[in-house]
Amino acid sequence: MAINYYEDTCVFKLDSKDSSYLIKIADQKYVGHVYYGKKIRGQDAADLLRIKEPPFTPSTNERDKLPFLDTFPFEYPTGGVGDFRETAIEIRDQEGYEALELFYESYKIYEGKPKLRGLPAVFAEKDQCMTLELKLADSNLGLSVTFFYAVFEETDVIIRSVLIQNTAQKDIYLTKVLSACIDMDNKEFELITLHGSWARERHIQESKVCHGFQGIGSTRGESSHQYHPFIALKEGGATQETGEVYGMHFVYSGNFIANVSLDQFESVRAVMGIHPEHFCWKLGPGETFQAPEVVLVHSIEGLGGMTRTYHDLYRNHLIRGQYKEKQRPILINNWEATYFDFNSDKLISIAKEASKLGIEMLVMDDGWFGNRYDDNRALGDWRVNEEKINKGLKNLVEEVNKLGMKFGIWFEPEMISPDSDLFRDHPDWAIGIPGRTRGLCRNQYVLDLTRKEVLEHTYESVAGILRSANIEYVKWDMNRQLADLGSLGLPKDRQGELSHRYVLAVYELQERLLNEFPDLLLENCSGGGARFDPGMLYYSPQIWCSDDTDAIERLLIQEGTALIYPLSSIGAHVSDSPNHNVGRVTPFETRGYVALAGTFGYELDVTKIPEEDRKMIPEQIALYKKFNELIRTGDYYRIASYRTNHFYDCFQVVSKDKEEALVTYIQVLNRPNCHSRRIYLKGLNPNRNYRIEGEDKIYGGDTLMYAGLNLNKISGDFKGYLIHLTAI
Ligand code: GLA
Repeated sequence: MAINYYEDTCVFKLDSKDSSYLIKIADQKYVGHVYYGKKIRGQDAADLLRIKEPPFTPSTNERDKLPFLDTFPFEYPTGGVGDFRETAIEIRDQEGYEALELFYESYKIYEGKPKLRGLPAVFAEKDQCMTLELKLADSNLGLSVTFFYAVFEETDVIIRSVLIQNTAQKDIYLTKVLSACIDMDNKEFELITLHGSWARERHIQESKVCHGFQGIGSTRGESSHQYHPFIALKEGGATQETGEVYGMHFVYSGNFIANVSLDQFESVRAVMGIHPEHFCWKLGPGETFQAPEVVLVHSIEGLGGMTRTYHDLYRNHLIRGQYKEKQRPILINNWEATYFDFNSDKLISIAKEASKLGIEMLVMDDGWFGNRYDDNRALGDWRVNEEKINKGLKNLVEEVNKLGMKFGIWFEPEMISPDSDLFRDHPDWAIGIPGRTRGLCRNQYVLDLTRKEVLEHTYESVAGILRSANIEYVKWDMNRQLADLGSLGLPKDRQGELSHRYVLAVYELQERLLNEFPDLLLENCSGGGARFDPGMLYYSPQIWCSDDTDAIERLLIQEGTALIYPLSSIGAHVSDSPNHNVGRVTPFETRGYVALAGTFGYELDVTKIPEEDRKMIPEQIALYKKFNELIRTGDYYRIASYRTNHFYDCFQVVSKDKEEALVTYIQVLNRPNCHSRRIYLKGLNPNRNYRIEGEDKIYGGDTLMYAGLNLNKISGDFKGYLIHLTAI
């Protein structure tokens, strides 16, 4: 059993492959965190909770209740009664009081994992995981809070979330509801976060955990380019392959907070959940509030172990649909090829050339609808622009299908341009505050999807187009952040619900779309990668990673993204050189190698690129077909990082049976007067021998991993190559 309750010690013990998590009910009422770390056999650790040491005896030491609350390791700390550290939940009652204290009431242990209504969630069969529910309540207030812990026995994952219910006759306002908190001893932790901006998302940052508060978050209405809803605590001395690492990842696509603090007694508290700014949820009598879930991963094999656990979990238990286990069609997207300057003829000429080269799908990006000749207008007018698409969409799709290619289309359904028929008809449909001029971003506003009629109209706009032709792929974009938060559909005491309700509405739209078009390949996007998060991954098996398609910038972006996400989910294309974003000139081969570590596709005008590049496309496609199964399903190992060494990048994918591996090596900058580069492979079978494709020599798996492999093939900058190994 993955979850056990020991009545004598009042301990709940959650065991997974190599980890244990212990919770104790102290003094019959406080739910305390005893331990999270390497697997332990017994529950004798329960005494570590210090409940016999003053001031840790609340029932016999009433005079020091506050010092107790302020030091006790809580599973879910509450606000207003004496824990002065970061809280997980805050409320305001009808009288305006803010105190909340939760006492243990009951528990349930069962097989499987419940679904979360309206929210994306990790899923599992009954025999794959077990769930512990702990019910707590504040009887003064009439509020009950249930903690959920889903434990995967075969892998080191615990999924946490909370459900809140108002059991009183009065309204209660939830002003902060986080989804998880972990209180731990400080193991000289380093905090890993992902930061960025448009066109340079998810760069890795490491900093020592120090006294005070350190954290990240988003109040932009989306998970954001700037910070990612993920943190990891890496014990001092841990490496890619050794030491303990704790990951926390939020399955949510809106505002979030992830904070780490080190307190006066050297305890670390890490919390994660919906950002309390712009959040105030009115909970009427009998109503419930479900918080999104946090995926906790514990690794005893360093950062790499954490990475591989997330990859497997997301590939098997979060991504859905027919493409979950399938090779994705190789697409060509016309955005960087034409921007807004295209018509049917141009698209067909691109498709003709692309199909000859082996490309499998044409994606028509922004600019095919309404008056959309530039990015200043027409969002919301989802009618085909027949000046550009002159024989209509159905005809264009048929022409592309005749070439043996699939057809995909771009939408930005959540938006409305001030210069659009939709806005002229429904100026009140945009999020905004009456009397206050709304702020623009890319000259557009955000639709108030929390209103039923707006949601229905939006759904029908997208679905209507999909019904009208054989469209097999949708790129769902979202190109601005939420501000001027106001909804005409919400009463004044529910305006604080808008940001969360908006995210729920996006989830509802995408769920409906997948129900009506179950074979559709959906790719989420948000000005590149501002909504690359596990929430969106539940709806779309791949997400556009960044608007920066430069192979070298992508090394950093894709390293940070692959820290948590499987390569099969990372939207990556070969684009023009000089790159449109950074003006960098890189070889066509290198752009191909970097895009292979993702979904792979093209984003250029294939009729205009140099002949020698065009000739390379069939070879790149052959590489994609040869290696995609391995890249999509294998174990990912980081060998070297250009981010830290400033010269080269190297990573490896090994098949689950260790029969095959692919190493990608990119030399960013060459150096004069150096030895050949020695790299140490990872994840191979030390007792097997391997052949490197193109060489006769046989290498021991142990030699390649422990003694290394010398690389001396490359001269020049921005060059790369692949090393393909097969066991013999
Ligand atoms: C966003 C996307 C791009 C492209 C444009 C179109 O920036 O990330 O890939 O689709 O919108 O306007």
